[in-house]
Amino acid sequence: MGMVIAIDGPGGAGKSTVSHGLATRLGYAYVDTGAMYRVIGLLAAERGIAVEDEDALAALCDATQIDFVDRGDRSGVEVAGRDLSAAIRTAEAAQLASRYSTVPAVRACLVAKQRAIGAAGNVVMEGRDIGTVVFPDALLKVFLDAAPPERARRRATELGGGSGDEVERMARDIAERDQRDRTRTHSPLRPADDAVHLDTTTMPVDEVIATLRTMVQQQLDSLASAS
Ligand code: DC
Repeated sequence: MGMVIAIDGPGGAGKSTVSHGLATRLGYAYVDTGAMYRVIGLLAAERGIAVEDEDALAALCDATQIDFVDRGDRSGVEVAGRDLSAAIRTAEAAQLASRYSTVPAVRACLVAKQRAIGAAGNVVMEGRDIGTVVFPDALLKVFLDAAPPERARRRATELGGGSGDEVERMARDIAERDQRDRTRTHSPLRPADDAVHLDTTTMPVDEVIATLRTMVQQQLDSLASAS
């Protein structure tokens, strides 16, 4: 099986930029699992499926093929030829993803899809439970974090607004999602016991990527010398 690099952490910690950059430099594939939860959240809401309707959610997820398309440092997604890349990036889609991701049937379905993608080869996969649940044997597990005000500032900028009001709204949004993601019963956001912790609050992106690249090389070297 190819190598898996697992990058977990809360929203705005820098996971997407760092994971995409690391994957590009390593020549690995990049998989944004948050995008998959956003797609299911969006489609479920569109079809009026309640969070409680686990059977309908399982059927929806099983029937949905999510195709990733490279869109620079953010992954784009298509479902049956419909481009959902912009629709999944709204604050509303983030909240829907966080809500529907608490449903065990949705998690089981998406984890199976993620394992199938990861089994194909060298991949950097980012999310909330990659090191703890999806690939507990990953070559390297990283838990990225940053101070909440910085995470709110980054998310507001990403969404095209950086005013004080927007940052404040994003701070509330992130706090609500964090609370739900960290306290849910199934696969809550938490660092794996053997994850490397990195606080990116004041670290430039290139430095984070270079640090992780060195760590990946060290892991590969120690694998090679052990075999
Ligand atoms: O990384 P993101 O902001 O795109 O994730 C959106 C939501 O999806 C997040 O609040 C929780 C959920 N999620 C999850 O439960 N497990 C993952 N592996 C990835 C995302």
